[in-house]
Amino acid sequence: MAYSKVKMVVDKEFRIAEIDERIYGSFIEHLGRAVYDGIYSPEHPTADEHGFREDVKDLIRELNVPIIRYPGGNFVSSFNWEDSVGPLNERPRRLELAWKSIEENKVGLNEFTKWTRNVGSDVMMAVNLGTRGIADACNILEYCNHPGNTKYSDLRISHGYKEPHNIKTWCLGNEMDGTWQLGHKTMEEYGRLAEETARAMKIIDPTIELVSCGSSSLTMPTFPDWEAVTLQHTYDHVDYVSMHQYYGNQKGDTEDFLACSDDMDQFIRTVIATCDYVKAKKRSKKEIKISFDEWNVWYHSNAADDDITKNHPWQIAPPMLEDIYTFEDALLVGLMLITMLKHADRVKMACLAQLVNVIAPIMTEAGGGAAWKQTIFYPFMHASKYGRGTALLPVISTPKFDTATHENVTAVEAVPVYNEEKGEVTIFAVNRSIKEDAEMTIDVRSFEGYRVLEHTVLECDDLQAVNGPFNQKVAPKETSQSVLDGGVVTSKLNKASWNVIRLGK
Ligand code: AHR
Repeated sequence: MAYSKVKMVVDKEFRIAEIDERIYGSFIEHLGRAVYDGIYSPEHPTADEHGFREDVKDLIRELNVPIIRYPGGNFVSSFNWEDSVGPLNERPRRLELAWKSIEENKVGLNEFTKWTRNVGSDVMMAVNLGTRGIADACNILEYCNHPGNTKYSDLRISHGYKEPHNIKTWCLGNEMDGTWQLGHKTMEEYGRLAEETARAMKIIDPTIELVSCGSSSLTMPTFPDWEAVTLQHTYDHVDYVSMHQYYGNQKGDTEDFLACSDDMDQFIRTVIATCDYVKAKKRSKKEIKISFDEWNVWYHSNAADDDITKNHPWQIAPPMLEDIYTFEDALLVGLMLITMLKHADRVKMACLAQLVNVIAPIMTEAGGGAAWKQTIFYPFMHASKYGRGTALLPVISTPKFDTATHENVTAVEAVPVYNEEKGEVTIFAVNRSIKEDAEMTIDVRSFEGYRVLEHTVLECDDLQAVNGPFNQKVAPKETSQSVLDGGVVTSKLNKASWNVIRLGK
């Protein structure tokens, strides 16, 4: 059978950068069934004493997510954080404007922070720069991080949280360039507001890190002027600029869909160039990093979501954004992870959007039902587990092809990660050709005495296959498709497959 030939050189000296583990972050928004019926379900048989599902926590721990963004998303732009704290019976029911739902505030920032630490993560908190502004950003920060003896820190203590939450990472609003955003702003308006909010927040707690809002996607009409203009204001006061990007195979063209990670790569390059342009203009020594704090596949649920917001608004925890992911979606998620790892020198945080039920790797059945793994769970889990250490430069020669809207698409995309401490190298590789298997020879001579530990593959005959509560049709399996001989690994990468090739001593 015909297969394409791919060559790769992996050398421990070809270093891109240390990987910041926070690129394996995720996101929980007060949206749909993410919180209620997702992480929180007091009636569920596995619920802990605070009402949070243990079976969901176990799956999150399996993903090993170091940071979780909260509480939105679009939700944050009309969020009144005070509604979400204090005695439960005094918390108001509110109209939630972003998703046209009812928010009961049964879970708020204290419960969420406690839960997050319980699953081994940190919180990435967003402040409302839509309907609110500097004063409220200062108040929530004082509530969360100040030790005591002030109005808001004492309020926290009176709510039963003596120790400050010490939340380190804060987003200055969400997608403020989008006309759908409550309190949407022009670049100048946002730049000034974010600058002044950042200055005030860093007076309260100089140890925090701040994320300035970047464009909501590569296709925004204001991209990349938005970054250039807003960063002129925020550059000296923030540490990161955010990026968001979702893809979908609306046209049913798999090859073109799998080429979308090339667009993501171009998006990252342009944002880096724009940050560095502002750096040069400011004669600054500081380098702005990227927080890719929303990324995923999102399109399967669009019509159902429109129907809910248009025809059935103001429900409590309606089933919104419940994309059921296909096998090909998992391949694109793998490709997006590889793309971010290739930019490990600048992409220092990222959030798979989202974590539970809402465009998520983890789904839950309502009532007493099961929690289960979507197809996209697996590439994310592999990357989070084995993609820690140093990202190495992938020097690859591979066949290329054109698709409907992309040119020179590489058949194989790959990135090696060197974990020096453990003495292991992991190569993540996707064969995105849906027609041809590939034989990849990998020169690993700089890793003397290494052997193949395992080659795990995620593949499926049916690109549209999905998982469910009682069906894991798309799940990884071990293969013997990699052999190391004389410093060269020869790996067979089946067409349309996600591969994790692990080498160790
Ligand atoms: O993640 C779902 C939504 O996508 C978020 O609320 C918003 O920020 C983005 O448009």
